[in-house]
Amino acid sequence: MGSMHHQEMDMKTMHHSMSDKEVSVATLTGPRTKKADHRFELVAQKKQVKLSSGKTMEAWTFNGVTPGPQLRVKQGDIVEVVLKNKDITDGVTIHWHGYNVPNAEDGVAGVTQDSVQPGGTHVYRFEAKQLGTFWYHSHQQSAKQVIKGLFGSLIVEPKESTQSHIKDITVLSHAWQLTEDKSFTPSYGLSDTLDRQIIKPGTPVRLRIINAQNYPQTFQLSDVPFKVIAIDGNDIHSPTSIKNRKLFIAGGGRYDVLFTMPKKPVRLSSQSDAGVTPGIVFSEKQTHSIPDTNENNPVFDPSQYGKKQQTPFNLNSKFDRDFKLILDSRAGFYNGKLRLLYTINGQVFPNTPMLTVKEGDFVKTTFVNRGLDHHPMHLHGHLMLVLSQNGKPTTGSPWWTDSLDVAPGEVYEVAFKADNPGVWMDHCHNLWHAEMGMTMHLNYE
Ligand code: C2O
Ligand code: CU
Repeated sequence: MGSMHHQEMDMKTMHHSMSDKEVSVATLTGPRTKKADHRFELVAQKKQVKLSSGKTMEAWTFNGVTPGPQLRVKQGDIVEVVLKNKDITDGVTIHWHGYNVPNAEDGVAGVTQDSVQPGGTHVYRFEAKQLGTFWYHSHQQSAKQVIKGLFGSLIVEPKESTQSHIKDITVLSHAWQLTEDKSFTPSYGLSDTLDRQIIKPGTPVRLRIINAQNYPQTFQLSDVPFKVIAIDGNDIHSPTSIKNRKLFIAGGGRYDVLFTMPKKPVRLSSQSDAGVTPGIVFSEKQTHSIPDTNENNPVFDPSQYGKKQQTPFNLNSKFDRDFKLILDSRAGFYNGKLRLLYTINGQVFPNTPMLTVKEGDFVKTTFVNRGLDHHPMHLHGHLMLVLSQNGKPTTGSPWWTDSLDVAPGEVYEVAFKADNPGVWMDHCHNLWHAEMGMTMHLNYE
């Protein structure tokens, strides 16, 4: 696995994973000739940046800012993103996390493209089919490059937006590593101190919470009724109003919540293994008091929330493929050093199982976590429907996800339709774990 250090996957692995028919990834592209409705340019470059606490660091940025510019488009738009690399020596790519683009646009170095070297350019093009909250990040040496700041948000709005009265706020949560030691500084964007936003009572507020940390993170709103209206960009069917619940969001995952600004101030804060963020206080006036959140509140359960709705498959469906994947860790050698490796069915990439499917297949995967760490499992190019959690069928709104946290001891059955041909990654989004073995390929035969 030595070569993984430089390209996340090498081309040899890719060829081995392609079928004899040699479906070329290069032909599975987005719209190449239609006029783009939005054209963005993202230049990867090093930059000194400052957190709100005053701490400075060398970040790896898009256009000199981190998080990178928010890409906000409308459903149905043709999106063109021109990636340029100024000075990131190991090369960069852009992966559209949660966005099911054609395979050649997926931005995985060594699999769907070569990384873009300093001075180089790469053009991504795709149609904005899915609505909702997504993010983008480099997928070349992701463990290092995401932590250094090569990420941003991607928001897709309905074509006819009737939402202009809603205050729409994106919270991109991250954990910075300011020094080479092991400690982290958690923040929302570059804000690692308490932030304030002035909002008039009565205003509907939509928070788009994106967890760009490697760790699962627990978010809390102080005492105010709210609805969880989307998970990983997918609308919840008939969400009910809840209150005093912690939101547990997987690394790479997104929750959209909606509340009406009350007369009293509201605070959003969060915590994870990386630490506690003071968060944001929403209030009518700068001078309002700072409310506390209650650590003893129960955790919101997405598996029982909202109303049932027809889905293309369910727990009783007959699946064309059925994969059982045991997540664990063990000691082993990596780049000549004895390290903790993260395994799937006892193996590290590239010896992990290959998920081979046919176009049109209904595919079930069962994740069993026998280890001691959380593993946010992220599938590229497809949406997974959660069928059951620890043997208990989901009963609420269909729970579609692209980043599913599997906690120690947990078992999840999920399913997806193989409807996007190519070679795709399925990996843990604790990006260190992915680098240390917990990575698979999904491939079409
Ligand atoms: Cu967000 Cu394969 O990554
Ligand atoms: Cu993991």
